[in-house]
Amino acid sequence: MLVLGLETSCDETGVALYDSERGLLADALFSQIDLHRVYGGVVPELASRDHVKRLLPLLREVLEEADRKPEDIDGIAYTAGPGLVGALLVGASCAQALAFAWGIPALGVHHMEGHLLAPMLEEQPPEFPFVALLVSGGHTQLVRVDGIGRYQLLGESVDDAAGEAFDKTAKLIGLGYPGGPEIARLAQSGTPGRLTFPRPMTDRPGLDFSFSGLKTFALNTWQQRRSAGDDGEQTRCDIALAFEQAVVETLTIKCKRALKQTGLKNLVIAGGVSANQSLRQSLAKMLGEFKGEVFYARPRFCTDNGAMIAYAGCQRLLAGQQDGPAIGVQARWPM
Ligand code: KG4
Ligand code: ZN
Repeated sequence: MLVLGLETSCDETGVALYDSERGLLADALFSQIDLHRVYGGVVPELASRDHVKRLLPLLREVLEEADRKPEDIDGIAYTAGPGLVGALLVGASCAQALAFAWGIPALGVHHMEGHLLAPMLEEQPPEFPFVALLVSGGHTQLVRVDGIGRYQLLGESVDDAAGEAFDKTAKLIGLGYPGGPEIARLAQSGTPGRLTFPRPMTDRPGLDFSFSGLKTFALNTWQQRRSAGDDGEQTRCDIALAFEQAVVETLTIKCKRALKQTGLKNLVIAGGVSANQSLRQSLAKMLGEFKGEVFYARPRFCTDNGAMIAYAGCQRLLAGQQDGPAIGVQARWPM
């Protein structure tokens, strides 16, 4: 089965072709980061308009790269939520129009299911069951995964998502958007041990997270250092390192708890923050104790992309699922 995947939930237009027999045939991505950078965050209306411009050229690009024709496509998967409504509607309308014109099924996919299954596109995919840590700009969740569509939420953030905390903290200390990669870059030059930030909600049982206090802690530290005349580049690097270490250690502690609680050995990390090298190293070290393994996607498939939607959609279409012709999207949508 050859499936076309369309991702337009936020600031990346992703289009991909996934074949159930041959794997991923082509994947094209256009990032709108430069468009939104001057505003310090995603401007929803600009995002929608840009998806309109990019979708069809990217579709032509993947067909050419895979050497396939529209007639070869058996189904279309698109991100139906959660995300920015206008942006989601662009992908949904395009998918439903093409499905109608080509006489094939269309299926709306949950964006976080796409992220969750992205490591399946790698050469050594994880086997079910596993614990998944979903860490993106909009979500921080621990999920027990027993198979496609068999997800049990174990814990989640009660306020900001981890990626959101990276982005907001970066903005507060004068770094660019998106903040995650910027903080990770500066943290490399940070002085270990100079500053220590709290590990929120690790001193009580449970698998929920809270990251909003960390950005306030970072802001207070930055303001204190500035009033002491210590607001140079090194201080920014030290705050970046302390913040990153706090998030990484907090996530690691909760993942360890989730593995203990479920008795599972394998951990999947997915979503934009799973591209963070320090997080990957910390989790690999922790899993050494469990004789378990950590799985993640290549960096391009950690952040938003069409390949993960094509893959997730293909699994569901193979299981006989499909949607009617209605163009329905959901800004908020529990998985
Ligand atoms: O999954 P994603 O592309 O979009 C959402 O579904 O939200 O995740 C984007 C988030 C942003 O908050 C970004 O700052 C963060 O992932 N991110 C990172 C890194 N790369 C992206 N955070 C920490 N370290 C990174 N290397
Ligand atoms: Zn995402």
